[in-house]
Amino acid sequence: MATTRTGVRGGIVTGWGISVPDKVVTNDDLSATMDTNDAWIRERTGIRERRIGGTTSQLAIEAGLAALARAGRRPDEIDAVVLATTTPDQIVPGTSATVQDGIGVPGGAFDVNAACSGFVYALAVAHGLLAIGAERLLVIGSETLSRITDWDDRSVAVLVGDGAGAVVLEAVDGPGQLLSWNLGADGSLRHLLMCDHGGYLFMDGKEVFRKAVRVVVDSAEQAIAEAGLTAADVSLLVPHQANLRIISAACQRLGIPEEKAVVVIDRYGNTSSASIPLALVDALETGRLQPGDHVLLTGFGGGMTWASAVLRWGG
Ligand code: ACO
Repeated sequence: MATTRTGVRGGIVTGWGISVPDKVVTNDDLSATMDTNDAWIRERTGIRERRIGGTTSQLAIEAGLAALARAGRRPDEIDAVVLATTTPDQIVPGTSATVQDGIGVPGGAFDVNAACSGFVYALAVAHGLLAIGAERLLVIGSETLSRITDWDDRSVAVLVGDGAGAVVLEAVDGPGQLLSWNLGADGSLRHLLMCDHGGYLFMDGKEVFRKAVRVVVDSAEQAIAEAGLTAADVSLLVPHQANLRIISAACQRLGIPEEKAVVVIDRYGNTSSASIPLALVDALETGRLQPGDHVLLTGFGGGMTWASAVLRWGG
């Protein structure tokens, strides 16, 4: 599913923030308790360390408050909290309710679960709310994958991390920053990446890898075309941070130089729906994003789901 935006009310990102737990777990820390080693993890995934701890709501609240401060907005100016997470604090209520209360947002709150594609899904949904009259939204990706990880299973444990990233999205007259979006899912592949109630994350790593490259490239190409652009027009690629080799393969197939990709997986591991906002905020904080730049956000995850969006920064 893909479309260019034709509405007259768009959105712009006016604030951003992150929160990660203080506790750093290095590859060497993991190799002390399981049969793995720093060289294998770095070579096969690009991960050097990850942050572990906290709750999904606590990290989301901290990231959300940081984004509000950056935007110069008060909580009571926000119409709704849209929280992407696949690791809710509880099954009921939605974790967004805890976040809404913790931040003091008087408006609505709901969770979006599209696994690692969740933040881009949430961003697309938030633009829909702006189009029908919302003024300001807090869009957050927050995860504590460590809570659904079997720390004796090296096939998953070396990959995951905890964290949150948030943006404040404000309505503007005219098209705003979002030039195009592309959302997709194939539920017949849900067995590749799953976690039952009370269970641990299971992943068919090889198959996920294979499918991920294909769906990310297809989705990104559609979003670029819908925006009326070519790969050469993409100034910055903000990909889901699941594996550095997936990011490299996607860059190669898309014809986007790897230097244009934001990489934070070395510091944070795979933080599911938090990974794209963590990378986006890193790019903003290091001055890699200038007004007029075309930013391509693209991710994939359990479901399988995939999602891409092209933004023209500034406005
Ligand atoms: N440390 C050391 N050795 C390991 C480890 C480890 N942690 N894990 C596996 N190995 C060994 C295997 O046993 C195997 O040994 P063998 O050759 O003697 O049999 C060898 O390393 C190669 O294993 P593979 O599974 O073939 O390794 P691969 O190169 O496929 O990398 C990985 C595995 C990193 C999981 C990769 O397949 C991947 O990144 N897949 C996609 C993951 C992903 O994107 N997941 C989606 C998101 S996850 C989420 O949503 C939370």
